[in-house]
Amino acid sequence: MQMALRYMQQAEGGFLRFRKHLDCGEMRHRDGLIPTLPFGEESWPTQPFPTKPPPYARQKLTVDNVNPYVDEAEHAHLRVQISQAHNEGLFTPQSVGRETIETPGQLGGSNWGGTAGDPQTVMLYVRTIDGPSSATLSERTAARIPDNATPEQRGFAVFNQQCATCHGAEPPANVDAARVRAVVRKGQAEMPAFSTDALSDQNLEGIVAYFANPKAGAPLRSSTTSATTPAPPPGREARYYGQFGNLMHASNGLPIIGPPWSELMAYDLNEGTIKWRVPLGVVSPLAAKGIKHTGSYRPSRNGPVVTAGGLIFMATASDCMVHAYDKDTGKLLWEQEVDANPDGIPAIYEVGGRQYAAFFAGVGRSYKGIAWKAGKPEGQGYYVFALPVARGHALRRKPEK
Ligand code: HEC
Repeated sequence: MQMALRYMQQAEGGFLRFRKHLDCGEMRHRDGLIPTLPFGEESWPTQPFPTKPPPYARQKLTVDNVNPYVDEAEHAHLRVQISQAHNEGLFTPQSVGRETIETPGQLGGSNWGGTAGDPQTVMLYVRTIDGPSSATLSERTAARIPDNATPEQRGFAVFNQQCATCHGAEPPANVDAARVRAVVRKGQAEMPAFSTDALSDQNLEGIVAYFANPKAGAPLRSSTTSATTPAPPPGREARYYGQFGNLMHASNGLPIIGPPWSELMAYDLNEGTIKWRVPLGVVSPLAAKGIKHTGSYRPSRNGPVVTAGGLIFMATASDCMVHAYDKDTGKLLWEQEVDANPDGIPAIYEVGGRQYAAFFAGVGRSYKGIAWKAGKPEGQGYYVFALPVARGHALRRKPEK
C-alpha cells in the first residue's frame, strides 16, 4: 500500500492527516469552555479530529505535567499560571485580555521540515517537539500614531504595531536603552533585526522613551476608558492581534512542560500505529547529571533523512550532536559531537561507491538558559562522514527489477 505516503501530511497540533482520511472522527467542545470572543463572535462548536493514527505530540499542558527541573517556588508559580489560563487543549480559541496556552506550541510538533518517509516500507519518521506557547489577543485600534504624539506615545503605538505580536501588550521591564537599541538593530535568537527601513530611528527612540516610561504612552490605551477608545479600524484591517512564537520557558530556559521535549518516532502508515519512539538528543547539563531521557530542546530546524540501507540520520542543534538510528527499532547506532550547532536536514549522497552523510552546523542562534549549548564560531561549516564500506553497500538501493 505505497499510496498511503503520497496522501499523508504532517498537520498542525501534532496530528498526521491523510488527504482522504479513512478513520476520521470529530471532537465537540464541551459546554462552557469556549472563551469569550469579542464583539459577539462565537467559536465553532466542532473541529475535525483524526482518531487514527495517534498524535505524535502532547496536545495539552496540565498542572501535573510541569517541568520537574525547576525549583519548588517556580513549580508552584507555573501551576498557578497554567490553571488561570485558557487551556482546554486543541482548538481553544485565543481571547482578549486572558492568556491562552497552546500545546505542542507554535514552534512545536513537526514544524520546520520534521519528517522523512520511506516508500519501500511505508513508514514515516517524525521529529516532534513539545514546547507550549501562549497568546493573548489585543485590540489593534490603539496602535495608531497620532499627529502630535510625544516620543512615549509614538513608542507605545510603534511597539503595538511592530513588537507586541511577539512580546504581548506589556513592554519588557528594566531593559536599558543601549540594550534595546542593540537588540532591535541586530536581532537576538528568534527576534529578527529591524533595519532603519523597517523601523526609523525616530520610531526606535520612541520605543526607548516608552520603555523608560510606559505610563506616558498610556493615555492612548483604548481599554482604559471607553471615552478614549478610538473607532475600530476600517473594514478588512485586522482588529485583533496576538503573539507569535511566545514560547513558555521556565527561568532555566527549558519549556515549562516536563520532558520529553523532543522525540523521533516511527509511524507504520499501513497500520496507523506508532512503531517506536525515542528521545532525540539530550540537554547537556542535565545529561551530565545522569538525566538523559529528556530529548534535546530546540531541534526546531533539524529534520531526519531515512536511507534504503536501514538508517536514519538526524542532528540536534542544542547539544551539538549528529546521530544515526536503526530505522526498524529506533536504536541509536552512532553519534558524534560537532563544534557548532547543526541546522537543517542532512544530505546523503554517494561518490565512487562510498556513502556519505553531510551535516551543516552554524552559530547564528543563541538562547538563554541550560537548553542551548553554544557552538564555537570556528566550528561552523559542513561536517561530512563517510560510512563504513560494508554499510555503504547496504545503504545502496537495491536495483529495480
Ligand atoms: C518575531 C518576534 C519578535 C518581534 C517582532 C520582536 N521581538 Fe523582541 N524579542 C523576541 C524574542 C523571542 C526575544 C528573546 C530573545 C532571546 O531568547 O534572547 C526578544 C527580546 C527582546 C529584547 C531583549 C529583552 C531582554 O531582556 O534581553 C528587547 C529589548 C526586545 N526584544 C525589543 C523588541 C522591540 C522594541 C521590538 C519591536 C521593534 C521587538 N522586540 C520585536 C521576539 C520578537
